[in-house]
Amino acid sequence: MIYFDNSATTKADPEVVSTYDKVSEKIWGNPSSLHQFGEEAFNLLEQSRKQIADLLGASQSEILFTSGGTEGDNWVLKGTAIEKRQFGNHLITTAVEHPAIHNSMEQLEQLGFDVTYLPVDEHGRISIDDLKAAIRPTTILVSIMAVNNEIGTIQPLKEAAEVLKDYPKIHFHIDAVQGIGKGIQDMIMNDRVDFVTFSGHKFHAPRGIGFIYARRGRKIAPLLTGGGQERNLRSGTENLPAITAMAKALRLLLTDEKQKVAKEAEIKRRIFNHVKQFPLVTTFSEDNDGFAPHILCFAIQGVRGETIVHAFEEKGIYISTTSACSSKKHVASSTLTAMHIPETLSTSAIRISLDDHNTLAEADEFNQVFDQLYDKFKLLSA
Ligand SMILES: Cc1ncc(COP(=O)(O)O)c(C=O)c1O
Repeated sequence: MIYFDNSATTKADPEVVSTYDKVSEKIWGNPSSLHQFGEEAFNLLEQSRKQIADLLGASQSEILFTSGGTEGDNWVLKGTAIEKRQFGNHLITTAVEHPAIHNSMEQLEQLGFDVTYLPVDEHGRISIDDLKAAIRPTTILVSIMAVNNEIGTIQPLKEAAEVLKDYPKIHFHIDAVQGIGKGIQDMIMNDRVDFVTFSGHKFHAPRGIGFIYARRGRKIAPLLTGGGQERNLRSGTENLPAITAMAKALRLLLTDEKQKVAKEAEIKRRIFNHVKQFPLVTTFSEDNDGFAPHILCFAIQGVRGETIVHAFEEKGIYISTTSACSSKKHVASSTLTAMHIPETLSTSAIRISLDDHNTLAEADEFNQVFDQLYDKFKLLSA
């Protein structure tokens, strides 16, 4: 089989699974317990935190563990809203965020907060002038994704950081769930960012584990209150096997990152250059530095995305409609809608998402299968 749905989730790395198993078997104490078993677990927890911090150029106390990307996004948004509500009620985000951001913002709107959704251009990218114009004296947070999960657009994070240097009180959050390990760490961990969301299962760690970077001195209210773990900011007994496994997965991900990114970009290019020759194909992702190396989104005019996905599945190739979240709801992609792509075309979109385990041979096989299926697609389209 060929797995081209890595933005939905990745397969846990065997080395990472082995770490998970070992910790589950041997270091199963509660890090909060006073006895030696607990201390051993605590030391491993802090060692994993330090490993992650070192890999990102952060300090140990700036890494806080969560259950994944959705929790991280919810926490930063709602935690900021609660913490800073006496200073203002305005938040800024983009029109192309993942539902973990979008739906949290909608919930905050119901509670009386005011949200600006920055529009995007034909490439799914916000404009820095729009960001500047949106900032008000009451703005408490700006949240921008690093890489769009549906078409792979990289947002102008460094330029946004420059703008926000003039507004030191505004929390600047980046959802980096699709951006980590894709050669843009300097843009994500920039010198102005305050909070960053990461999710383990997108880089070969197990499900249900993630972390946020929270700049020292920046405060958010906890969403999970209880026993006071994670410096009183996120209660709940720590998922130590998954945390340790995630630290390992991050190290593996960032080892030889440049070569891996170049490989992914080459695979993407090979498919992109092939499919774009076909008259029924409209590409939404581009093959340039403004797009992540691992996501390719295109539509086959007149054929439903689900039909395309299943046609490839029959040939052993796993792709998706634009996002895992929207695929079963049969709704048009929110990113393509924000780009003003008509629904007749956006419902025909599919996403290929790669990682460094994929190969050029798989791209060639995809292209061959594409050629075989294209006649069927032509008939359906007609
Ligand atoms: C950009 C983005 N943010 C947040 C999430 C949510 O992450 P998780 O699946 O870990 O909850 C995803 C998942 O696809 C994502 O792509």
